[in-house]
Amino acid sequence: MKNLKNKKILIVICGGIAAYKSLETIRILKRYGSEIKTILTTSAKEFITPLSVTSLSGGKVYEDLFSVENEYEMDHIALSRWADLILVEPITANTILKLAKGSSEDLASTVILASNKPVFLVPAMNVRMWEHPSTKENLKILKSYSYKIIGPEIGEMACGEYGEGKMTEPLDIIKRVNDYLSSIDKNRKLKALVTAGPTNEYIDPVRFITNKSSGKQGYEIAKSLSRNGYQTTLISGPTSLKINEEINLIKVETAEQMFQETQKNLPVDVAIFSAAVSDFKVTKKSDVKIKKRDQLNIKLEKNVDILNYVSNHNSMRPKLVIGFAAETNNLEDNAIKKLKSKNCDMIIANDVSKHNIGFDADLNEVTIFYKDNKKEKLFAKNKSLISDEIIERVNNQLN
Ligand code: CTP
Repeated sequence: MKNLKNKKILIVICGGIAAYKSLETIRILKRYGSEIKTILTTSAKEFITPLSVTSLSGGKVYEDLFSVENEYEMDHIALSRWADLILVEPITANTILKLAKGSSEDLASTVILASNKPVFLVPAMNVRMWEHPSTKENLKILKSYSYKIIGPEIGEMACGEYGEGKMTEPLDIIKRVNDYLSSIDKNRKLKALVTAGPTNEYIDPVRFITNKSSGKQGYEIAKSLSRNGYQTTLISGPTSLKINEEINLIKVETAEQMFQETQKNLPVDVAIFSAAVSDFKVTKKSDVKIKKRDQLNIKLEKNVDILNYVSNHNSMRPKLVIGFAAETNNLEDNAIKKLKSKNCDMIIANDVSKHNIGFDADLNEVTIFYKDNKKEKLFAKNKSLISDEIIERVNNQLN
């Protein structure tokens, strides 16, 4: 488990009977060379003592949000920045609720809320609590925030009941963390390019042809690629969306500019074309504002198909080329046609005939068509979660 060496891991221990197992996690992580700091919630201290945690971790245990000593040495924001990764083990139903609400009422929830690092949650609780619809709803929210959930397992619990709710064993948790770090480390060497948003095709200096694309799905894909370690460039048409600074954002307006920027940023290992590029541009844009008149004929000509250009490039075709297909009818037939005609490895097709899903919406539901004729449906989820699932498939194809 060589990826754990020198990694800074912040372990948040919540109050549950499984809290004692976090001592084993700390012991194993130390053996593999990780640097550990810990946060103990107030109720965790009912199960294990700060002294036992410090003795094993060799690092400080943080307990209170506004402790003068802690804030002087390392404030709660610095603590979340210090970590390469946060592991919440065990996480109780109560802390799951706090994170789902975005609460910052204690040190643990504040540090997690303020974190820009991967967060792993390891639930442990009674089977009824785990199966309760409110816990399930809260977990759905946490997944949509890209928290990674490990377990729980089925087995006999401390309370004597049997079922799902038992905490995953420390060694298995650590293997999952190591696998994740290993895939991120591999991805850091890889470059990704994403196109997103609409394009504006000018008729005159103040009027243009555009479409309803919000760019949300493409931005979420870029964020997910970056979270997964890829060096990510996002070439975006006009949107008001914001993106993290680790992502190389290139803003463009027209399809022509998007094409030029794409060419400049090749070669890459994976290219994902989510932009709703206008198929046509105005043949001769007027240099002055066109005056009102009885009739106006605008001559249009085809834009370059950027996806097609990249996927058929002789020397710089990325290992993985992924296109999007927005369809209102015959989704499967049209998507497969596009997959073949555009020489893609994957086509992500969405049905844009439904209201509130797909185009200009927060939710999406897609079917992925693969080159080897397989297909896979990702059911309705917010665009961030759909992106994580798409990038999981990208990781599998590239590694
Ligand atoms: N695309 C592109 N450059 C273009 C046009 C499209 O890169 N000039 C990409 C889109 O980003 C998307 C895919 O191609 O990944 C969409 O294919 P396309 O055939 O353009 O879809 P539609 O515009 O929906 O086509 P049609 O009207 O034929 O359905």
